[in-house]
Amino acid sequence: MTFDPHKESLKVGIVGAGAMGRGIAQVSVTGGMQAVIFDTKEGSAKEACSFIEDMIDRAVSKGRLQAEEGEASKGRLSVANTLGDFKDCDLVVEAIVENIDIKQSVFKQIEEAVSDDTIIASNTSSIRISSIASACKNKNRIAGLHFFNPVPLMKLVEVINGTETSKETTDALCVIGKRMGRVPVVVKDAPGFLVNLGGRAYTTEALRIVSEGVAEPHEVDAIMRDACGFRMGPFELADLTGIDVNFPVSQIIYEGYFHDKRLATAPLHESMMEAGRLGRKTKAGFYEYDENGEIIRPAPADVPNVEPAKRAYLPEPVPALEPLLRDLGISILAVDDGVSPILAAPVGEDCTSLALRLKLDAKRLVAIDMLTGVHLHATVMAAPGANDETVDSVMAALRKVTNSVTRIKDCPGFIAQRIRAMVANLGCEMAQIGVATPEDIDKGMKLGLNYPLGSIELAEYMGTKNTHTILEQLQRITGEERYRPSQWLRRRALLNLPIHTAD
Ligand SMILES: NC(=O)c1ccc[n+]([C@@H]2O[C@H](COP(=O)([O-])OP(=O)(O)OC[C@H]3O[C@@H](n4cnc5c(N)ncnc54)[C@H](O)[C@@H]3O)[C@@H](O)[C@H]2O)c1
Repeated sequence: MTFDPHKESLKVGIVGAGAMGRGIAQVSVTGGMQAVIFDTKEGSAKEACSFIEDMIDRAVSKGRLQAEEGEASKGRLSVANTLGDFKDCDLVVEAIVENIDIKQSVFKQIEEAVSDDTIIASNTSSIRISSIASACKNKNRIAGLHFFNPVPLMKLVEVINGTETSKETTDALCVIGKRMGRVPVVVKDAPGFLVNLGGRAYTTEALRIVSEGVAEPHEVDAIMRDACGFRMGPFELADLTGIDVNFPVSQIIYEGYFHDKRLATAPLHESMMEAGRLGRKTKAGFYEYDENGEIIRPAPADVPNVEPAKRAYLPEPVPALEPLLRDLGISILAVDDGVSPILAAPVGEDCTSLALRLKLDAKRLVAIDMLTGVHLHATVMAAPGANDETVDSVMAALRKVTNSVTRIKDCPGFIAQRIRAMVANLGCEMAQIGVATPEDIDKGMKLGLNYPLGSIELAEYMGTKNTHTILEQLQRITGEERYRPSQWLRRRALLNLPIHTAD
């Protein structure tokens, strides 16, 4: 490859004038490059050009683009009648149907049409770049350039290195990605690439929690939104993406990683798919929807109107609980009086294990999740057979500092600790196996999925040791290898190192 990716007249050929091809062409021309679109369906490329012109006009009318820039961008857009019209393209991006045989055949045709210097990239979301490249003669100029939908709004682009992609090709795609106004992250050619892999933990762990009867989907969503700052809860997100999309993606990635249990989804996911409850698009999913397609949110359970707890016994010192109890007007007993609530703030432990470990009366034991914004949305849990009046009195007291209190069933790691630890663990495992650099993994999760923090930053935010402990407890209590901590996390937690420390 000899072309300069900074050159002003850089020309991008786009194969496929669908949702993605249009977006890629739009960001190419608004990024100052020329874009030429080809589609086998008669009239599609021309229609795509009109669509893009409208989008550019709209951006101008909203003041997001100068009028002259808009006109110049439209002037850089054209239609290709055959792939032969790509002969002077510096880069060709393929965005056609997701089918390996068709993609391989199109890549062979593109190779015939373009010069030896042209980079050829695929926007595939699930096919290995090396599989596509295996049909090509010159494999080191083949790479992935994976955009997100809708392209003009989603800032991230994954630059995927096939087994034989040259560094020159990767570097050039990063430059071109930036010229398109995107933030490039360099990613290994592995199932789900970065974002689709990194996003697995959030929904699959939430599905496990609901399948175990710990809480209802709307309760999980409220906690993840209110207390953890996620823009959407895992179930709202699954309904929005569509169960017919996220269930097969989960399965492909699980198969691709040879049944790594950390990536497994729950049978409930498949049941929803089989039942045709696909989410927003079918107006039925984890939620019900009204006739306008708006989500019908079940009302949160009432906090019982009982006398708030006044005294409590703390079997273990928890520094964070003491100021909270002061705010709640709860005085701390020096010894258990046999009637007052016993309060704890476990990290990764469930009430049953805690009661056995400290020989406590499990009926009066109430656990509060102190690792997760208690003032934003408090979560309490109790063991099976717990005394409801005791739990209610603690919930009533918590109402003094928050409007939202949710009681869940006994569960190691509550809801937020458990989901966040699984998101962080997957991020760490991705760093361990070199899916991308830790910094790019964080960037990818924030820009590709709107997470409030990158998965790896999340481990640091919760405390690397806490994150490691939550996973160890989950693994010990459930006996499941799903919860085994990534070695990346384990080493940095035990050595007390910053989580982004390179190997
Ligand atoms: N839609 C998304 O959210 C999304 C996100 C990231 C990546 N992707 C990937 O991008 C690719 C395109 O997805 P899309 O949603 O734009 O699809 P789409 O169905 O909207 O568009 C595909 C276009 O390709 C054209 N086409 C099919 N075969 C062709 C061929 N042999 N030569 C030229 N044109 C051909 C079709 O006529 C159609 O216009 C897929 O690989 C998909 O996995 C999609």
